[in-house]
Order: sequence, then structure tokens, then C-alpha cells
Amino acid sequence: MSGSIKAVIRGLGAFIPPNVLTNFDLEKMVDTTDEWILTRTGIRERHIAEKGQKASDLGAEAAREALSNAGLSAADLDLIIVATITPDMFFPSTACNIQNKLGAKCGAFDLAAACSGFPYALSVAEGFICSGMYKNILVVGSEVLSGFIDWKDRSTCVLFGDGAGAAVVCGEKNGERGILASLMGSDGSQADVLKIPGGGSAFPTSEETLKSGLHTLKMQGSDVFKIAVRTMDVAVRDVLQKSGYTLADIDCLIPHQANMRILQAVSERLELPPEKVFINVDRYGNMSSASTVVALYEAVKHGRVKKGDLVVLVAFGGGLTWAATAIRW
Ligand code: UT7
Repeated sequence: MSGSIKAVIRGLGAFIPPNVLTNFDLEKMVDTTDEWILTRTGIRERHIAEKGQKASDLGAEAAREALSNAGLSAADLDLIIVATITPDMFFPSTACNIQNKLGAKCGAFDLAAACSGFPYALSVAEGFICSGMYKNILVVGSEVLSGFIDWKDRSTCVLFGDGAGAAVVCGEKNGERGILASLMGSDGSQADVLKIPGGGSAFPTSEETLKSGLHTLKMQGSDVFKIAVRTMDVAVRDVLQKSGYTLADIDCLIPHQANMRILQAVSERLELPPEKVFINVDRYGNMSSASTVVALYEAVKHGRVKKGDLVVLVAFGGGLTWAATAIRW
């Protein structure tokens, strides 16, 4: 980004619903085992929202913590962007519902980029801030995936969890810290490998779509696996090149948390030692657009990301989409 304004993450927050669903619980629901889930995915447990708990409920909780950590109030916000593929409803947007819950008075919109949602939204926020249009932007990633999973399909129901994270992104002049570079990518020709096909204008909800289960998530897991590894590897290299750094400069990689084997394969390709790669997929499963922001929140909280560090976020998801952000913390 040109100019002297940098987009800086000034405060982070997270909200994970307390209800835990372990692999052993899943053993009682579908034909699976803790051993299969652990060895194939690295996931031990995930959290599930309460009945009636919406993406805006989780997102607003995370946002309140992020605002408090940033030392700002809702009145200071110029814009709210919510990354989600499990919105409260088609419209009003989940962002409008969060705006109302916080009592903010600003523009608000949702952004759908599946698991790449948080770095996508961060990139959009960076654009608004560096253009000088806005100063303080709330970026939220919030998902209640449990409402969109086929709980009889063992190949998907073991993978996902609910949660939300939020970041308050502010413009700072002439500083060292902040977003150094970001990138967004997509390949709509591969849309079929990961999707929720029903309920939109392609297949409006009907008795037939419900019977066929079109309202639940469908995934061609092994295809997604291979593309994820390849794409995240390239995205990290590209965003580093854009920011003028190399792989050796990375202090902490915050990858989208979908599967431990994907994270290991990406780390190996990038030749990053395990201590430089943040992992929490074992405790939350894949929370789609909430994954990277919750991982960043925890990495900062537990001292894995410190002032001055070079942090790289990278994500990959349905669309297909991918995104990466290089940040001087
Ligand atoms: O956020 C981005 C979106 N998602 C991802 O990035 C996920 C990417 N993909 C993956 O993580 C992996 O592909 C999976 C974890 C989904 C699957 O692992 P895999 O090693 O690719 O297994 P597979 O799909 O090739 O299935 C192997 C076997 C199959 O049985 P057969 O056909 O070999 O007899 C499946 O039916 O494992 C079976 N299987 C299960 N067995 C026990 C699939 N799910 C389960 C299960 N428990 N939960």
C-alpha cells in the first residue's frame, strides 16, 4: 500500500461457545472413531453453539472484547465488515445485526469468502484505511457451522466447529507496525469441491431441496486437501514477495485451521519449524472464517506473537478462495 498510513490491528477478541463436542461424542452419532479423526485431521474436539445462538451473537461478543482491547468504543467505529458463510439470515446482514447489538453508528456489510473470510475482510479494511476513507474498522469472522452440517455424514460432520473472532483495525501514520501487504485470490471453476448448494437462487428452498439435503455442507475432501496445500504454499510466498521479505523472516505463520495434516504439509513445503506455525485445530476444528482470527487472538494472548514480529496469515476455502496478509506486529 502506498502512502504513509498503515492499517494496524489495535485490538483482538474471540468468543467460543462453551459447549464441547468431543470425538468420543461423535463415535455415538456416526460410524467413526476418535483414532480415525485424530490421525486424519488432528481434531480432538470442537465447540457447538446453543440452539438459537446466531453468528451475530458470537460475533458481537468477540467484537466487544476487541473494542475493549483496542481502547475504543462502538461510537468510534467507521465501518463493520463481517466475514461469514453462516449468516443469521440472507438479509439483513449479520454485520447490521452486530452494529445494532454494539450500538455502533456506521456502515456495515457481510463478506462471503468461506474459510478465507477473515484475511479477505482484513484486506478490504486495509484498502479503506490506506485510502484515507475510514480510520477505525471492526472486522469480524463468525460462524455457526453446526446449523449447516449433515450430522449423519461422517466425512464432514467431524471437521467443523462454531466460534467467532474480531479485530479492530485502525489507521496509523508513519509507523513501523501494521499490514505490510495482502492478497486475495479466487478460482470459481472449482466451486463444486466445497459448497452449501441449496437455499439460494440456484436451488431455492423446497421440499425437494430439503429431502436431498442441499442445505448442508458438501465437500470433496481429498480434492480440497491437495488444492489447499498447494494454494497456501504459493499465497505465503507471494505475500512475502509483495512485502519485501522472505520465508526466513517469518516469526509466526497463522494458517487457516482445517486439518493438522494440511498444516504439516504447508509447513514442510515452506520449511518452517513447528514453533513458527500456530496450531489450535485440535481444540476447535475448522471454524471457517473465524479460524484465522481466533488463532491470531490466541497466538498474541499466549506470547507466540510479540511486538515487532513478522506475522503471516494465510487461508483457503470454498469458492475457491485464498488470501494472505503479512503484518509487522
Ligand atoms: O477449510 C477448507 C475446507 N476443508 C478442508 O480443508 C478439508 C480438506 N480435506 C481433509 O481434511 C481430508 O480430505 C478429510 C479429513 C476430509 C478426509 O481425509 P482423507 O485422508 O482425504 O480420507 P478420504 O476422504 O480419502 O477417506 C478415506 C476413508 C474412506 O473410506 P474408504 O472409501 O477408503 O473405505 C471414507 O469413507 O475414510 C472414510 N471416512 C471415515 N472413516 C471414519 C471418511 N470420514 C470418516 C470418519 N470416520 N469420520
